[in-house]
Amino acid sequence: LLASKIPEWSKLSTIAEFSVVEPLVIGIGSGSTVVYAAERLGEIKRVFSQYINDLNLICIATGFQSENLILSNNLRLGTLAYYPKLAVAFDGADECDPQLNCIKGGGACLLQEKLIALSADKFIVVADDRKKVPYLSYSWKIPIEVVNNAPTFVENQLKKEFGDDLKECDIRESMPKKAGAVVTDNFNCIMDINVGPVHNVKDVHQRLKQITGIVETGLFPNVNCAAAYFGNSDGSVEKIVP
Ligand code: A5P
Repeated sequence: LLASKIPEWSKLSTIAEFSVVEPLVIGIGSGSTVVYAAERLGEIKRVFSQYINDLNLICIATGFQSENLILSNNLRLGTLAYYPKLAVAFDGADECDPQLNCIKGGGACLLQEKLIALSADKFIVVADDRKKVPYLSYSWKIPIEVVNNAPTFVENQLKKEFGDDLKECDIRESMPKKAGAVVTDNFNCIMDINVGPVHNVKDVHQRLKQITGIVETGLFPNVNCAAAYFGNSDGSVEKIVP
């Protein structure tokens, strides 16, 4: 019936089959790339509602930016408290290795992004091909979310833990040396650290997490990551599965 009513059915069926009966809960991440995923979802919802009832789609935000993204695409906003189990979450990445471990947090949303990724059955990375790297910290530092009065304490602990491997440790500023430290959606600050190439992602993540004052790290050791889609400069898309 649906297929006969909706000309675009073949493009919509996967989402529509799920959401006719019960809500399909989707996480919408942060950054510039995930904008395209949200726009596409908005389009699917719009086309679908032209023919049938409203699509039963709930979107959960990873921060201020993605909340606005959801609303501006006329998608229905839900909260993680009300919908603790997500079918899928789409998000960008700063780096992604062949096992689909990621560095995230370029936009300072790493804590909420990790909560959403861990709550989703499937985490899908959407990124441009510059984010595809052989190992993490290839060209990007690791963002860590730090309690806002603890950067000096954390830096001292990092020196003890990583010794000479700690090459850089900077508090992220909103405008260099002008407007002060970046404040996250959780009222913490962000430090960007370089401890050299990260091959054992879980291990480095654990060593960071055990330091008091570090709320979360931007290392995502394959968090339910089912696939990464990399857009190439020629317009083609490469899909990688772990
Ligand atoms: C936000 O904190 C980040 O994790 C982003 O998802 C990441 O920085 C990717 O952003 P872009 O898509 O803008 O590169």
